[in-house]
Amino acid sequence: MSLIRKSNTGKYGLVYHIVPPYGLMNDPNGLIYFKGQYHVFFQWNPTDTKHANKHWGHLVSDDMIQWKRVELALAPDQWFDKSGVYSGSAYVHQNQLWLFYTGNVKDEEGNASSYQCLAVSEDGIHFEKKGPLFEHPKGFTRHVRDPKVWYDARVDHYWMVVGAQTEDLKGDTLVYRSEDLLHWVLNGSISTEEKDFGYMWECPDVIPFEEKDAFIYSPQGIEAQGERFNNLYQTVVQLGKFTIDGKFIVEEDNLTEVDAGFDYYAPQSFQAEDGRILQYGWMGIPEGKEGLIPTIQDGWIHALTIPREVCIQNGKYLQKPARELWDLTTNVQKIQWNTTRFESVFSSPTQVWTVNWKEAVQDKLAIQLRNEIFIQYDAETQVLSVSRTDWETGEREIRERTLQSPLQHLNAWMDYSSLELFVNEGEEVFTLRFFTEEDSLDFLIQQTAEQEMEMEVYSMKESGFIAE
Ligand code: FRU
Repeated sequence: MSLIRKSNTGKYGLVYHIVPPYGLMNDPNGLIYFKGQYHVFFQWNPTDTKHANKHWGHLVSDDMIQWKRVELALAPDQWFDKSGVYSGSAYVHQNQLWLFYTGNVKDEEGNASSYQCLAVSEDGIHFEKKGPLFEHPKGFTRHVRDPKVWYDARVDHYWMVVGAQTEDLKGDTLVYRSEDLLHWVLNGSISTEEKDFGYMWECPDVIPFEEKDAFIYSPQGIEAQGERFNNLYQTVVQLGKFTIDGKFIVEEDNLTEVDAGFDYYAPQSFQAEDGRILQYGWMGIPEGKEGLIPTIQDGWIHALTIPREVCIQNGKYLQKPARELWDLTTNVQKIQWNTTRFESVFSSPTQVWTVNWKEAVQDKLAIQLRNEIFIQYDAETQVLSVSRTDWETGEREIRERTLQSPLQHLNAWMDYSSLELFVNEGEEVFTLRFFTEEDSLDFLIQQTAEQEMEMEVYSMKESGFIAE
């Protein structure tokens, strides 16, 4: 096997993804570059593999490749966050690291409330809690959470977006503004339109790009529509403009799912040292069948995705693996062929591979990975599908996406029990976990047309990824 495992994470443990050392991980939180280091915080239950007792776990890195675990950043130990330190974001202010998060509180009678809170640190490791920042407006349930903060040079003040649920049980996003990050004024709902898209929106994020802006959020309560919205909960992106009045004006009918796979939720963006916008997602989905994930027997559950560079190009939201990650790869093998069938065996379940077709795939394509994942494409419909074994029922299950352009490029990042498949340079990504009993490392690709293609297969370096 390729990488040395630093965590006792068992058969399905991942080696170049951020995983919890034990317990449950969910959303990425507080992503930031601060005083020469990248910080990744994450929702963490250190005492169980269930959704309870949420803390902020914490890792730091100089290069986004080698990570070091540091002491946990925030624990649920105050009256305003005693039932859980929920998701939020980070901002560097006055040379300090400011964390904005949601404090969750449930009393003995089962009444719950939430508070948007602040915690501040000089060194990026030890945080002083400053308590709740404001009261929530009337007309909303207790489900108000996940503050994301950024600075807007056009108006010279800060914005905060917060996921919310209205009293008539509709998902919404509240927008606040502030001149000093301490005093916040409610600006209103993000949308100018009547919203009726699910009963709760979690983890909103506005990413200002040059050409257009992206509004990303994770709605709950959306019904499946053909190939769309087939997971229990979704993460969607809308393109448009975040105005100086704090509204997001969407372009017509451009709502898409950020990820086309099975396991993706609650992403957060941040800015790299050089200005690139990067994004981590949670490689999981709450509730549903997560309680049956076999890693629970090894005392841990869930992971983050690899960091992805995101941008808008030709009006499309694109995601690519952060370029730093290629430094983890080594020993590339290049294979060219123009036959209809090619078979091989990977040397490890952590391999990364690309396939480039000289011309777009002309007919039908089928790929089998590790005897477990099947990727299929039909040039006539331009539909690409990925299927796996449902770990709840043992049946095959499938996700499909009609591509916006004909298939010409695939890039897969495999890590024991996860796959992130980037299609056509990031036009779509399929993210999934899979838990096969088999130890097969087989790879088989078949195409009905004899077409020229080149495959590159990379190994991952032995140098380790997370220092304990
Ligand atoms: C999304 C979410 C957030 C919340 C956090 C709690 O997965 O439900 O809305 O802050 O997880 O862990």
